[in-house]
This record gives sequence, structure tokens and C-alpha cells, in this order.
Amino acid sequence: MEIKFVCDYLDDIKGSANMKLTVQVPQGVLATFYWADERANELEEYLAIKSIPLVGGIGEYVTNKDLMIPEKARKIRCRVFKDTMKEIELPELVIDIPEEKLWKPSGKLLKKYVAASDIHCGGEYFNNKENRITAFSRIRDIKPDGVLISGDIGNDARSHEYDQAFEMIEEYLKGIPVYVSAGNHDYHPYMEGSVANIPKMAEFFGAVAKRNVQLGEKCSSPSDRNTYDGTLSSSQVLVLNPCREDDRAFYGEEQLRWIDEKLSQSDGERFRFLVTHMPQNNTVSCSFEKMGKLLFVGDGDKLQEIIDRHKNIVHVSGHTHYDFDSDGLNTKFDDKTTSLYINAGCIVWCGVEFNQRREYYIKDRCTAQLIEVYEDCLIIRGIELVSGKFVSRCLHRALTM
Ligand SMILES: [Fe+2]
Repeated sequence: MEIKFVCDYLDDIKGSANMKLTVQVPQGVLATFYWADERANELEEYLAIKSIPLVGGIGEYVTNKDLMIPEKARKIRCRVFKDTMKEIELPELVIDIPEEKLWKPSGKLLKKYVAASDIHCGGEYFNNKENRITAFSRIRDIKPDGVLISGDIGNDARSHEYDQAFEMIEEYLKGIPVYVSAGNHDYHPYMEGSVANIPKMAEFFGAVAKRNVQLGEKCSSPSDRNTYDGTLSSSQVLVLNPCREDDRAFYGEEQLRWIDEKLSQSDGERFRFLVTHMPQNNTVSCSFEKMGKLLFVGDGDKLQEIIDRHKNIVHVSGHTHYDFDSDGLNTKFDDKTTSLYINAGCIVWCGVEFNQRREYYIKDRCTAQLIEVYEDCLIIRGIELVSGKFVSRCLHRALTM
């Protein structure tokens, strides 16, 4: 059996990484694909595209069809291992990316925002402060114009969890406006004997809103259900929380009316942000993979109708603790309604030990998405917050937004 490395593109769209990679190395058990530059050096700022097992020395990988080729990539490189750590010495396995596939945004980078979720402060199960500090420090270093965090803020709705969350925001995100929604762990805590701590949440959201105003943004005081709105630079932000404790995805008629009215005020704008903890059911294939219909209780369908009617919405959600190692979709641009759905990366993780992370294996996740606003489009990049590298399996564009 000869050695082979082939890339078949499955469309002819510029910038699209919709492709099938085939590798054949008889003595190999694992192949890892990387984006590389003109000189076949792996792009340092990107994690591997994917590692796949070789069965009988043969492996095949089909990317998610919505994936993009990084602007700087000119080649694809493959490394083959004879066990998971030991690389085989081979003539270089490298493929050129054809000129007609290359694409990059034109126009200036105007703003950048970070979408993150599930910080789970203070809980026993998810309590990994080290991870949260790493994540928040990394987000600070990105110097975003704003941060959107889609609950779970705490884990068991105890006062100190909200205090810890606010302290983290104050300490690590100095000078950066932040919008936070609550999650199921806040409104429907699971620990025996714990109930939603509405007064404490109100205090937390009030402090977040006040902080945004001090940073020069408009930001309303949270309603009695902790729903509020404001601005990030000149863009509108709407934060929608559940309307009752017993149903984590039920927003209620009154709040949906409020969302509808608020969106009417920004209908002419390029885009506006909507933050909820629960993803919408058209958002992410991972939702179905991981959680099935459980996610979509409540009145998310009514919210969807409002989103579709108003268009140009960047919806940021969380909850799935989405695994960027999966090929499921976490970011989706709907070009019919020109709305963008981001199921944000998860700050905490419950995988292998912190020091056992490997560059090509990011299952132990601590991730977020960077939203770059260019004059002509939006680019969404997944970031692994420990290494600071971009996730090759989360790179998308909203061309008409
Ligand atoms: Fe969570």
C-alpha cells in the first residue's frame, strides 16, 4: 500500500473548507491535519484541524460544510503517528490550497466581541477557579470591545457564587462592558434544598448594569425577572432570562412582547445582540446530539418567530457546554434572515486533568468565540482559552451581516 494524502473540495465557494481529507500510511494509527502557511509551517495561532484514527493505515475526514479556511492558510499538512505520541518519519505530507479557494475579509476591523458561557462560579461539581482565571485573563488580553456571557453564572444559586462572578468581572475585565444572562443553574438549581436566589441575582445584574453605565454604555436596570437591555458601542444588547423558576426556557408573553418592542427600535441597524442561556433549536446540531429535545421546552419557538421577523440578530446562547472537538455546528449564520446564532464556548470543564491537555486534543474544553466586525462581514472564531489558539473546527463568516 502506498502513502497518500488527498484533499477533495466539496464545493467551489471561496473561503469554504468544505472538504474531504484522505490519508493512507500503512504503518500509522493516527493522523493529525493542520493548516499551514506558504512554506508548509503549521499556522501557530490555530489548533489542529482534526486528529483521526487510521484503520488499517487508512483514514478519512469530512469537515463540517460551514467551516472556513483561515485567511493565512495556504497549505494543509498531515502528521502521522505510530502511536498517539510518536510521529512516523515520512516525506512531508502537504497539500496546496488552490488559489480559487482563498478568501479574506476586506475592509477594516471595526470591533471585536467575545461570546462565552457557563462560568459556574462556586459550585462543587464545576468549581475550577484556575480555569476561570485562565479564561478571564485570556479574554482580557484579547481586549474586546465587549463581552457577552450566557449563564450559568453560579452553580447552586448561593450568594457567594454571584459575588465571585462579579469579582471576576471587576478584576479581569477592567474597562470592558459585560452583559450576562442567567442559566438553568441559576433559576433551577439542582443541589438538594437550593432554590433560585432572586434577590441576589437582582443585586448581581444591577451591579453589572451599573458597571456598564459607568463605562459609558446605556444600560437599563434589570426587571423583576432580571431581563435588561443596553448598548455595546452603538449596538443594542437584549438580555432575556426565564420568567419563572420551574422552567428554564420559558420566557413568558410579557417578556417576549418586550423583546419584540425593543427589537423594533433597532430594526434599521446592521445587527443587535440577544443573549439567552438556552440555544434556539435551529442553532446548533450539537444541541440535538448532546441534549436532544430536553433543550427546547418552554416557548423558544415563539422567540424564534420574533427573531425571524426582525432579522439581523446575533443570538448568543450557552448551556450545551459544547465540545469544540466535535464536528457538530456551534455557530450558524442563517442567510435568509441574516441572523447569526452562536452557541458560545464553555468556560468551565469537567474533563481530564488541567495539565494533561494536548494541543491536538481539545476535548477538555475552555473555549469562547471571538466575533470580529469588519466593514464588509462578521468573522466568528472559536478560541481555546488556555492556549489562546483558534479552534480550526469553529471558523465561520456572516457575509451579508
Ligand atoms: Fe452550564
